[in-house]
Amino acid sequence: MRSCGVPRPLPPGDLMSTIEADQLDVLLSPDDLRSVLERDALRGLTASPKWLPPKYFYDDRGSELFEQITRLPEYYPTRAEHGILQSHAGEIATAAGCETLLELGSGSSTKTRLLLDALRDAGDLRGYVPVDVSAGALSESMPALKQEYPGMEIRGVIADFDAHLGALPLPGRRLWALLGGTIGNYPPAERAQFLSAIASAMQPGEAFLVGLDLVKEPGRLMRAYDDAAGVTAAFNLNVLSVLNRELDGDLDPSDFEHVAIWDDVNEWIEMRLRARGPVHARLGVLDLEVVFDGGEELRTEISAKFRREPIEAELRVAGMEPTHWWTDGDFALALARKEN
Ligand code: AVJ
Repeated sequence: MRSCGVPRPLPPGDLMSTIEADQLDVLLSPDDLRSVLERDALRGLTASPKWLPPKYFYDDRGSELFEQITRLPEYYPTRAEHGILQSHAGEIATAAGCETLLELGSGSSTKTRLLLDALRDAGDLRGYVPVDVSAGALSESMPALKQEYPGMEIRGVIADFDAHLGALPLPGRRLWALLGGTIGNYPPAERAQFLSAIASAMQPGEAFLVGLDLVKEPGRLMRAYDDAAGVTAAFNLNVLSVLNRELDGDLDPSDFEHVAIWDDVNEWIEMRLRARGPVHARLGVLDLEVVFDGGEELRTEISAKFRREPIEAELRVAGMEPTHWWTDGDFALALARKEN
C-alpha cells in the first residue's frame, strides 16, 4: 500500500516511458508534497504531546516493510480482506452496479484485480482510476493492468486524497474503493470530514466500498501491531529515517523504541516511538531543534477499529446510505451508495 507515501519523485521521462501522458493526471507535485511534510513535521514535533501523520511511513523502505507486515502471521487484516473479496467480489460488483473502479490508494494489485474481474463479469467494465500520492506506485501498476484489461480505460491520478477528491476524472459511474483499513488512520473528526468530502465528490448512484478492521480481543490487536519478528517496530522507526533524509535531520533510530498500545476508550491502536533517554536532534531544513525527555513519546499512527452500527451511522451523516456489509468476523467491507 502506498496510498499515503512520501513522494518518490520520478523523472517525468521515466514515468512517461511507461504511461502515456493522456493516462495520467498530476494534481500533486513533489514540491507540494514536500511543503506538506515540512508543515506537518513542524506542527507535530513542536506540539505536546509530539505526533506525526502516518502517511510519511511509506517511502520505498517503508512500503517494503509494510508489504512484509501484510505477510506476518500476526497481521490478519490483509489476509482477511483478501478472503472477503475472494468470496464476495461478485456480489460486491453486482450490488455496486458501476462500470469504473476508482481506487483511493492504488493498493495491492491482487485486490484490484479481484474487483476489476468481478466488475467485468457483472457487466460493463469501462475504466480504472488509481489515485495515489506516489508516481512510483502508479508506474508500477498501470502498465501491467493496461495489458491485462485491453478494453479498459486507465486514468492514473497523482493526488492527495485529502485535497483533490472533487477533481478526479469521471469515466463512467464509479465504484470508489478505500481498502485495507486505511480509514482507521483518521481520528474521528478528520474521518467525518474525509467521508463527507468523498460523499460530496460522488455522483448520485455511485458507490463507496470501504475496508474496516473490526474491534476484537485486545491481545490479537496488540500482537498485530507488535509482531515477534520486529517488522512493525522497524516500520515505525523508519519514519525517523524519512525525516532525516527529507529534512536533513540527525535523529538516531536506536535512541527510540517501538510502542503499540490499545486504547479501549477510543477503540484504536496507537503506535508511538518512545525516547530511551534524553534526545537532542536537529532538522536542518526546518532549522528546528527536536528535544525529547527520556521516556517521552512521539505518536506516529492511530489505527481505529470499527463496529457496524457506529460506522454505518457515520456514513449516513456523511451523505451516503450503507447498503451491504460483508465480514469474516475480523474485518468487514461496507458498501454505501450516494443517494440521488
Ligand atoms: C495500512 C493503515 C491499514 O493501520 O493496520 C500496519 C498500517 N501500521 N501496521 C494499519 C499499519 C502498522 C495499516 N494501514
